[in-house]
Parts: sequence; structure tokens; C-alpha cells
Amino acid sequence: MQSLSERFNTLKTANLVTRPVASGRLVRVVGLTLEAIGCRASVGSLCRVETLHGDIEAEVVGFSGETLFLMPSEQLTGVLPGARVTPLVHEQGIAVGPELLGRVIDGVGNPLDGKGELFTEKKASFTAHTINPLARKPIDSPLDVGIKSINGLLTVGKGQRIGLFAGSGVGKSVTLGMMTRGTTAQVVVVGLIGERGREVKEFIDEILGEEGRARSVVIAAPADSSPLMRLKGCQTALTIAEYFRDQGLDVLLLMDSLTRFAQAQREIALSVGEPPATKGYPPSVFAKLPALVERAGNGSDGQGSITAFFTVLTEGDDLQDPIADAARAILDGHIVLSREMADAGHYPAIDVERSVSRVMPNIVNEEHMLMARAVRQVLSVCRKNQDLVSIGAYKPGTDQAIDQAFTFKPRLDQYLQQGMKEVVPYDMCVNMLRSSLQG
Ligand SMILES: Nc1ncnc2c1ncn2[C@@H]1O[C@H](COP(=O)(O)OP(=O)(O)O)[C@@H](O)[C@H]1O
Ligand SMILES: [Mg+2]
Repeated sequence: MQSLSERFNTLKTANLVTRPVASGRLVRVVGLTLEAIGCRASVGSLCRVETLHGDIEAEVVGFSGETLFLMPSEQLTGVLPGARVTPLVHEQGIAVGPELLGRVIDGVGNPLDGKGELFTEKKASFTAHTINPLARKPIDSPLDVGIKSINGLLTVGKGQRIGLFAGSGVGKSVTLGMMTRGTTAQVVVVGLIGERGREVKEFIDEILGEEGRARSVVIAAPADSSPLMRLKGCQTALTIAEYFRDQGLDVLLLMDSLTRFAQAQREIALSVGEPPATKGYPPSVFAKLPALVERAGNGSDGQGSITAFFTVLTEGDDLQDPIADAARAILDGHIVLSREMADAGHYPAIDVERSVSRVMPNIVNEEHMLMARAVRQVLSVCRKNQDLVSIGAYKPGTDQAIDQAFTFKPRLDQYLQQGMKEVVPYDMCVNMLRSSLQG
């Protein structure tokens, strides 16, 4: 027979009882933040808040003295002064399982696609279980993404984390969609965070398509959802990716966008009184970014990998934006999409010269690396001398390097372009690269 204290401990470990629950009440609402007194709940836990239209859930995002600061996960309507606030004792979590494949869910795991409830066996916590950095498998093999310029010149390794830097309308979504169809990863997890609602539908119906959808999970937290929902959406995407990785699968995680994640955290932090630091971003934003990004990567032995693409918006195509700067420092490579190339109809508008995959030398053979370097040299020589050549100030025969670069340029341009629906497997990319550099 178990004693009472033993039973309490078993319940406690099972997360059924964590603390006694006393309801408090709302005393203030400022912007999106609710302030409650009379109840105790830990930061990060959920409370139920009574409103005229039924209860809504809100997360504790901070406190000051006896006052709890809460952020609702949905639209805030119908709250009255003194409304009851009840801490929820159950652990927050997100349903994970193979049932997620082919589904579209919101930031906290509720289905959005009208395909019925999601029933899974397991629940996983939103926050990460950290992996000992020494236990992680090294990045040692390429991941095929089906795009020539990336496979050939900016080879991505299984477990690598890459930033996709671009302004708006330059082709981020299309490029991510091409990868979902072209990749050899077994599972694709797509986080659409802070996009316009219309774009979410377009991405799912047109860019992802039926075939892409079957092995994908889409997490959508559009721009009109609460900042908490957008923040949670990113964490949900990582939690789901981690689940599939722990099953030994290779996962491709596409997060559009990391900037919106940072902006959601900025909204939350500013509204609970954190002072802004760089360009209005409070310091906690720069702490949350690496915490999120570090969750991707390789697992330990026996686990699979999470290869992640995080899109980063560069306002006015400014690469010095604080989020872009911070992202570049914590990612293992960046791919820059150029507006100039997109305007000229060169798609995907990847600016190879300004992009780098930091792990490429470790995962490709020497010949491949030399070819990639040769392409960079050709592109660089052509860019530097383009003006001279266009105005006719350069006389062919003056400089052998320039002459050679300009003979290769048209073939390379052709290699670097690719149609939206075209998928080119890795080996073919390398062979095509070789033949475009020959002769
Ligand atoms: N590979 C491509 N081939 C042809 N057109 C493309 C390609 N990539 C992008 N585009 C064009 O660029 C437009 C904007 O792309 P999109 O991915 O929606 O931009 P973003 O997500 O960066 O705002 C598309 O509607 C399409 O017309
Ligand atoms: Mg887009």
C-alpha cells in the first residue's frame, strides 16, 4: 500500500500534480498583456482566463512582485476587470507522431486543414532537451535539395543550419517549395510564421502541392495570430522535427521566417517591460535566436538529422539588419537571394558570390570543391569587368583570365537557373557542373 506522500510523488513525476491551484483575478490589461494577482504560476506555464465568450488560454511570460504578466494565445476579446484566472496544472505539450504527416496545424498543434482531430500516442514538450554538443554526430554527408546552384556550389550537409537571406518577393517561398519536392530527406517540416494568411494557403496548395504535402508537416501561424502563437509556432516546428529525428529519420526543416520569430519575441518582451536595445529589439531576442537554432542539427548516434533553412528578411535588402547579423553568426552558412538577379529574371536568384556553405569543404570531394571555387572566380571576374565589356572598353585578347571567364559565363548562367517545378538530383547537379566547366 502506497503512503499518501508516495502517491503524491508519483503523481508529481507524472506531471499530474505540480502545485496547488488557487484562482486569481485580472487587475490590468495593457496592450496585449494581462496582469493578474492572487494566483501563483511559473513562467512558461498556462492559465485559463475567463471571458464573455468562454475561457481562453494565456501563458505566464513574467511577473513583478505578486503580479503575473500573461500573454493570450488567441485574440483577446470580452475580458472584464476582475475576470478569474486559473493556473492550469497539466504540462503543456504538443502531440507528435507519424499521424502529423500531410497535416497543417496551428502554432500549438490544433489542426487547421479540416481533416479532423489529430490523435497521437505521444506528447512532447515545447522546450528542447539539449543534446551534449560532443555527442552530436558530425556533419559529414551532403543532403540533396534538388536545386542545382545549391547542390553544386553551396552544398548543404545533413544537420547543417543555413540562413536564406532576402528581401520580400525575391523568391524565398518558391525556393523553399522547390526543396520540399526535390529533397531526399524523409520528412519535411515547414514553419510558416508571420506570413500573410493568403500566402499560407498559396504555399500549401500551389508551391508544396500534393506530392510535397504527403511527407510534410506544415505549422502555420500567420501574421494576424498573437505574438505568442507565432513564437510557439517556431517551437512547435522544432519539437516536431526533433521527434522525427529521434526516430532516426533525416528531416528537412524550413522556417519562414526567423525574422518574424524575432519580431514576435520583441512584441512580447517590450510589452512586459524589457527595455529595447538594438533597433528596438530587446536583449532577450538575441538570447532566444541561438536557443531556437541550436535545436536543429544532428542527433547523437542512432538518431537522424535536422537540416534547417531559416529565412531571414533583409529590409530594403540591408544585410546589416541586427537580426540578419545575429543570424549569420549562429548559422553554418548563408544563401543570399539578390533582388537584382530576380529583377533580371534569373531564378532562383541565388547570389553565389555572396553566399557560403561553411561545411561544404568537409562533405564534398576535392574535385567538387575545386569546381565550385572555379565558378566563384569566373563570376567574380565577370562582375568586376562587366561594365568595361558592356561599353566596349575591353579589347578581347588583353587578359586571358577575363576572356576565359566571359566564355564560361553563359554556360554557368544556364547552369544556375532552374524552373520552379524542375528537380535535379545531386549526382546530376555535379555532372552538369563538370560539363559546364569543360572545354
Ligand atoms: N525558380 C523560379 N522560377 C520562376 N519564377 C520564380 C522562381 N522563384 C521565384 N519566382 C518568382 O518570384 C515571385 C516571388 O517569389 P516568392 O517565393 O513568393 O517570394 P518571397 O517568398 O521571397 O516573398 C514568384 O511569384 C515567382 O513569380
Ligand atoms: Mg514568401
